Amino acid sequence: MKKPVIAIDGYSSTGKSSISKVIAEKLGLIHLDTGALYRGITYFALENCFEIDHIDFEKLSQLLCKVHLEFIQKNDELLLFLNEIDVSKEIRTSKVSDFVSIVARQPEVRNFLLDTQRNIAEKGGVIMDGRDIGTVVLPNADLKFFLTASIEERTKRRFHELVSLGIDANETEVRQNLINRDKMDSEREIAPLKKSEDAILIDNSDLNKEQTIALMLEIINKNCKAH
Ligand code: DC
Repeated sequence: MKKPVIAIDGYSSTGKSSISKVIAEKLGLIHLDTGALYRGITYFALENCFEIDHIDFEKLSQLLCKVHLEFIQKNDELLLFLNEIDVSKEIRTSKVSDFVSIVARQPEVRNFLLDTQRNIAEKGGVIMDGRDIGTVVLPNADLKFFLTASIEERTKRRFHELVSLGIDANETEVRQNLINRDKMDSEREIAPLKKSEDAILIDNSDLNKEQTIALMLEIINKNCKAH
């Protein structure tokens, strides 16, 4: 019996990754947080291609061949390693959040990550979350979700997430960063954030994480019986 391929897209801080992680555990699927890959490349760019106040994208394109990103499971956590160094915490800083949408709209970066993402999904049994999974990366996914929530609710969630990671955060700045990223992610030319026509829309402004997971599992069970 082939396990399903599930695509989850949506706005920042709608809980895509933490929800996907739980669903993956419950259904025995591999979880891929594609936002972490874009954050990993952004961290690399800030470390290696940063000039005064901007990223030198020409230099980044040349250096992409030296980027090796790998997820490694350690106890309960999936850690991201960049060239064999654990950068799981570094990729969540506000500096990375401020630059990630600019990096993610570079065609070279998107192409570089496309194969990585598709190769992981090839054997099935995967739940992948991001912005263009249902539309570009896995258009033939067995089931697609699109998550949204109010900006107020999303700001609260991101703020608490950062605080719990021990990262200094300011609610006004967090809100502005979410607004800026949503705008850049939705308006970029290549693979913009957009609901795929066949994706199931879930607004979880009034649902907590457990309720969102229960709703999605119900939909998955109904729709993926044949797999
Ligand atoms: O899910 P996240 O907030 O960690 O994602 C960080 C950024 O990466 C997001 O602002 C846009 C970009 N991204 C993307 O362009 N395509 C994806 N599939 C995943 C993330």
